[in-house]
Amino acid sequence: METSGGRQYGKALIDAPTLAQRVQQLGKQITTDFAGREILAVAVLKGAAFFYTDLVRQIGVPVTVDFLRAKSYEGRTTTSGEVRLVSDPDFAEDIAGRHVLIVEDIVDSGVTMSYLRKVFLAQGPASLATCTLLDKPSRRRIELKLDYVGFSIPNVFVVGYGLDHAERYRNLPYIAALEAVEPT
Ligand code: IMP
Ligand code: MG
Repeated sequence: METSGGRQYGKALIDAPTLAQRVQQLGKQITTDFAGREILAVAVLKGAAFFYTDLVRQIGVPVTVDFLRAKSYEGRTTTSGEVRLVSDPDFAEDIAGRHVLIVEDIVDSGVTMSYLRKVFLAQGPASLATCTLLDKPSRRRIELKLDYVGFSIPNVFVVGYGLDHAERYRNLPYIAALEAVEPT
């Protein structure tokens, strides 16, 4: 049993020290790869917020931060197949010529990330890279190149460290399978 804020939840799939160690490695790798450049790091809210704030603090080149919100799940555990940008930022002058890094919590079907890539590429960035904490390659519906992946995981619905089920469990400091924290 893991605890969070005094409450007990099911066993972690990826515990907090393992997350921290991997985030540090990713930050180092990104620092090396972007040497001499400045990154515009864009977090996909809400899920990636927790991973993102840890990650950017491990990056040693100049970073500017931005956030956008995409939605496709609407309280279900599989994608509706349709992505909505909830905030509709006017990217035009911000993105052109910048080195953009999109930061996601998890890539599942790939629908969200490929949609976001299209939106960003249309604005003419100098480069566009993708980073996700978790990857579920077995669920991919759309072929997608991911530049930075924290962990590849099997086909289980996970919560914690930003990931939710119907908006719950984002504040767990570790990643757990939904069925471990909410047995049916
Ligand atoms: P995709 O568009 O199917 O690749 O899904 C991407 C989005 O779905 C992510 O940004 C998550 O918000 C959500 N998602 C996918 N799998 C999970 C999961 O196992 N737990 C929580 N959210 C998930
Ligand atoms: Mg989500």
